[in-house]
Parts: sequence; C-alpha cells; structure tokens
Amino acid sequence: ARVVVLASGSGSTLQALLDAHDDSWRIVAVGSDKPGVKALDRAASAGVETFTVSPADFADRPAWDAALAAEVAGHEPDLVVLAGFMRILGAPMVEAFGGRMVNTHPALLPSFPGAHGVRDALAHGVKITGCTVHLVDAGVDTGPILDQAAVRVLDDDDETSLHERIKTQERELLTRVVGRLAATTTHPERTAPR
Ligand code: GRF
Repeated sequence: ARVVVLASGSGSTLQALLDAHDDSWRIVAVGSDKPGVKALDRAASAGVETFTVSPADFADRPAWDAALAAEVAGHEPDLVVLAGFMRILGAPMVEAFGGRMVNTHPALLPSFPGAHGVRDALAHGVKITGCTVHLVDAGVDTGPILDQAAVRVLDDDDETSLHERIKTQERELLTRVVGRLAATTTHPERTAPR
C-alpha cells in the first residue's frame, strides 16, 4: 500500500512510521503545512519525497484545502496518515480521502479533543489519559475510533513529560493501525509496480 504522511512539527511520530516499514506498505511522500520543519528533514533523510503546501501561499482556506488535496492525490495514496498535522482539514481533503485517512490524537477521545489534549487532560486532573487513532471525518477529532492506548498520569508530570510518554504509546499504536489498514488496501506494495 502507498502511504502519504502529513506532519507539521518535529515528526517523531513520522519517524516511527519511517522506521517501521513492513512489506505491505511504504511511505511514498511526506507533506507539511510549513517549510523547513524537522518532519521534512526526517523524510528526506529516509529518501522519501517531501512537499509543502503552506496556507500563507493561498488567498483563502478553501484554496489551500484544494491545493493540499491535489498534491496528496498526485502521490496516489491508498492511505493518508496525519502524524502531528496541526491544521483542520476542509471538505476537499475529507471528500478525497475520507475513509482512508487516519489521525493520531494524544488523548482518549472523545475526551480532550483539539490542539491541547495533553494540557487539558493534565489540567483536568485525570489519572489515566492516552492516545487515539481515528478515521478523519469533517469534524475535529471526531471520526470513528480505530484504536486507543492508555497512559497513566504521574504526580510529577508536566505537559512535556506526559506528552513524551503518550508519544511512546502513540508511535506503536499508529504503526499497528497503519499495518492493519495497509493489509486491507488493494495495492500491496510488493506486487507489480503501479
Ligand atoms: C503527537 O502527539 C500528535 O498526536 C500531536 O502532536 C504530536 C506530534 O508530535 N498532534 P511529533 O511532531 O510527531 O513529534
């Protein structure tokens, strides 16, 4: 299966996918909404094609959405993975890849959706949080849940320490889900080249 990964930051989640290849899927491109982020460097170091589609380059959000959808489609993905992609996707992306696009979120959805799931869980005082991999629908962190992992909150945790522990689980969870979904797509990578 052909996988396109979108990321916006350091890309440690992406790195786990780059390191986890198995023969049923491979990452054919990595895209970002910002140039120069470490995720793009990690892809380049792994010999994976990269692209950037930056909102700053477009007149409005719908134009950016459409451009991103066109760029991703150009790589003929069987599966799109949002690995720390910090933008809310519009209709063009959801219509083009809904049902074969997953997101990873560092909290146990439906609790603590949005951009500060780790901070919100800590502030609320939960003892158990975790991460969720879900299909992306038109909402924010609202699509069908595919899998979750629990992470205990320690008394001396701050947002960084808790997020790092969640990321450790997240990398394993996302890699497992991608492997499962890739096995179900119609283009296993090791057959005749497309
Ligand atoms: C992950 O925890 C992801 O769930 C969240 O941001 C983090 C991305 O970290 N949206 P990285 O850029 O992969 O290191």
